[in-house]
Amino acid sequence: MMRIDPEPLLTAEQIAARVRELAADIRRDLAGTRPLVLGVLKGAAFFTADLARALDMDAEVNFIRARSYAGTASTGKAAVSETEDLCLRGRTVLLVEDIVDTGTTLSALRAWLSAAEAETVRVCTLLDKPFRRTTPVTLDYAGFLVENHFVVGYGLDYEEQFRTLPALHVLKWPEEASGRPSVGG
Ligand code: IMP
Repeated sequence: MMRIDPEPLLTAEQIAARVRELAADIRRDLAGTRPLVLGVLKGAAFFTADLARALDMDAEVNFIRARSYAGTASTGKAAVSETEDLCLRGRTVLLVEDIVDTGTTLSALRAWLSAAEAETVRVCTLLDKPFRRTTPVTLDYAGFLVENHFVVGYGLDYEEQFRTLPALHVLKWPEEASGRPSVGG
């Protein structure tokens, strides 16, 4: 059983305040459009729901799935699949991610969105973990920069554990408990 640092890295209040700031920026930038807010399951589901409400503008919400192929991070391979038929041609899409780490998943999502002929794509990630980036990606909006920790809560999981925690916490690897140095990630 994995453990977490009981002291949140980011509290629910800090997250909510940042969500309001991001929403204000996005509302200003996308004024005059009717964006499709496209959340990436499952990690970004909670963030997408909060951000979409905070946007306070006429918008659609939908979800997409993305799964990285283990071991192929450097080749930028990730599987993208729809939860229902999406027609993105000519649309303004706000892609909502939970965390961008190596960049593999986001670059696959961008390729998928461009093949679907979305007119404008803006990317909003709650967390940016740039230290292990292998695929350069552009982020339009990023909530918080995180160090090379594995974080869980507020939708993010470790093997389906901790997703429903209201705050973000750092996962503690078993070796940390025995005093061995952490490798993180
Ligand atoms: P990337 O393809 O390496 O950028 O990884 C993106 C995906 O890996 C995210 O959407 C998450 O599902 C997962 N991930 C990466 N780092 C973390 C973390 O610290 N906690 C939980 N999930 C993570």
